[in-house]
Amino acid sequence: MTDTLFPERERLREELTAAVRAHPVPAHIGIIMDGNGRWAKQRGWSRIRGHQMGARRVDSIVRAADRLGVRYLTLYAFSVENWARPSFEVSALMRLFRTYIVRKRAALHAENARFRLLGRREGLAPEILEEARQSTELMKNNTGLTLNLCINYGGRAEIVDAVKKIVADGLRPEDVTEEAIARRLYAPDLPDPDLIIRTSGEMRISNFLLWECAYSELYVTDVMWPDFDEVELLRAIQSYQNRERRFGKISEQLGNRR
Ligand code: FPP
Repeated sequence: MTDTLFPERERLREELTAAVRAHPVPAHIGIIMDGNGRWAKQRGWSRIRGHQMGARRVDSIVRAADRLGVRYLTLYAFSVENWARPSFEVSALMRLFRTYIVRKRAALHAENARFRLLGRREGLAPEILEEARQSTELMKNNTGLTLNLCINYGGRAEIVDAVKKIVADGLRPEDVTEEAIARRLYAPDLPDPDLIIRTSGEMRISNFLLWECAYSELYVTDVMWPDFDEVELLRAIQSYQNRERRFGKISEQLGNRR
């Protein structure tokens, strides 16, 4: 998994980096990190080992995104539906998340990053909430990449929670606008994702950022998450850069296309 051990891969990384840097990079990338289980199974390893290798990937992709100038990186780590997995897998994942948050706090801070947990707080262990709170607080004045970790997250749950806030705030029907809903999402200041990447081939959104993905570009790769290295991230960004985002308009109405 150390890419520099493979000179050809390293050359490809340099070439792609130069090509990608010549054009605007997406400000906000969301990633559905799928395939840890299948990746491990192919090697005769446990699913937990797959998740552990997936956690290492998180590290390298956060650093690569930061270097490329991505402003927001939102990683789908655990959905509200994932609680239905075998309890030992759920526990192992929760331990991994907590370890990641604690161990990476200093490094993320040193890299001028910000950190946020996105999802329903109810149901999450107080230790995870507390560690996440400490990271968010420590890094709140940083100005680099914002890392959003989605744990106990569901797109529908997020919309339901926003609607509950609307009711609690006593809004009149005529005041229920798209802006009113967007202001009540888990991270109201977060711009919508420009690009959503899904690894390991499934063509689904799986309840990820349902409100926010309205105009996101989607990129699905067969590469499984533990194998998703910087070259794969660059390929996804390059694919994004070759698309025309029309937001409901027609080509001729758009100005600055490459
Ligand atoms: C989906 O793969 C992945 C998850 C449900 C967990 C995501 C967790 C990680 C990437 C590792 C830890 C992350 C952090 C932030 C430390 P799957 O298990 O559904 O794979 P499968 O579809 O092949 O079974």
